[in-house]
Amino acid sequence: MIQEAKTPVKKAGVIGHPIAQSKSPIIHHYWMDKHGIDASYTAHDIASENLEKDVRSLFQEGYLGLNVTVPHKEKIIDLCDDIDGAAKAIGAVNTLLCQDGKVKGFNTDAYGFLKNLEAQCNTENLKDKKTLILGAGGAAKACLYALSQNGFENLTLSNRTKKRAEALQNNFQFEILDWEEKDQNLEDFGLIVNTTSLGMKAQAPLDFCFDDVSKSAVIYDIVYNPLITDFLKRAQQKNLKIVTGIGMLLYQAALSFDIWFGVKPDIDEALQKKVLRP
Ligand code: ATR
Repeated sequence: MIQEAKTPVKKAGVIGHPIAQSKSPIIHHYWMDKHGIDASYTAHDIASENLEKDVRSLFQEGYLGLNVTVPHKEKIIDLCDDIDGAAKAIGAVNTLLCQDGKVKGFNTDAYGFLKNLEAQCNTENLKDKKTLILGAGGAAKACLYALSQNGFENLTLSNRTKKRAEALQNNFQFEILDWEEKDQNLEDFGLIVNTTSLGMKAQAPLDFCFDDVSKSAVIYDIVYNPLITDFLKRAQQKNLKIVTGIGMLLYQAALSFDIWFGVKPDIDEALQKKVLRP
C-alpha cells in the first residue's frame, strides 16, 4: 500500500528518459486552464534503474496520476496492482492512476489511434476492406489492438525485421507481407498505416510507392513531426485521403486526463497549433 500525502492541488505528470522533448506538459496545462482544473503537471526524467523507487516516491508525494513514456512503458507493468484490457493485450502501460493506495495501469494509445482515425474519416467504409500496417514496434501493437477490437478483421502487417512481425502473431491475427513487397498489389486495401519511426524529423523517409493503391484508400501516418510526412505528401500527390498523426497524441492524452480528473477535454485547433509549434 502506498501512503498518499494530503494535498489540496491535484498533481499529475509524465515520466520517461529522456523527457525534455515531451509535449504532454503543454497539452495537460492547456486543458487544466481551459477546464478550470486546479492541478499541476510536471515532467520527470527517470532512469530505468530508479523507476520503481522514483515512481513510488512521486505517489507518496501525492501524485494522482502519471503518463509513462519511452523507455518505461513495459517495465512499469511490474509496479501496477492492476492493468486494463488494452494494456494487457498490448503489453504496455502509458497511464497510471493512484487511488486508495493502489496503482492502476492503462494503455490509452490504442484509443488515441482509433479516435484520431474516426475524427478524420468514415471508418465504417474501411472495415470490410484490407488494412496494411507498416511496422512491428510498440506503436504497431497499439494499432493492431485498436483495429482488431473495432471490426477491422482483415489485417496485414509488414516489417523490415520479419521475425518481429512473426512474434506479434502470438497475440494478434494478421497476415505478413514481405517488407520488399509492402507497396505491391494493394488494390484491395482500404487503409494503410505507418507505425514505423521512418519519416520523423531527422530520420530517413518511408520509401513507399502508391501506384498500386486503390483510389479510395486512406493513408494514415502516426508520425506527427513533421505533420505532413514524405509518406503523406506522396499519398496526397496521388489524391489519396490522408490522416495525420497529431490527433493520436492528443486523444491518448485526453483519455489520461479523463482517467485522472473525470473531464473529457476539448481537442481544438488552438491546442493542435500549440503542440505543433517547434
Ligand atoms: P515504437 O515503440 O515507437 O513503435 P520501436 O519499437 O523502436 O518503436 O519500433 C520502430 C519500428 O520502426 C519498427 O517496426 C522498426 O522496424 P524493425 O523492427 O525492423 O527495427 C521500424 N524502423 C525503424 N527504422 C527503420 C528503417 N530504417 N527501415 C525500416 N523500418 C524501420
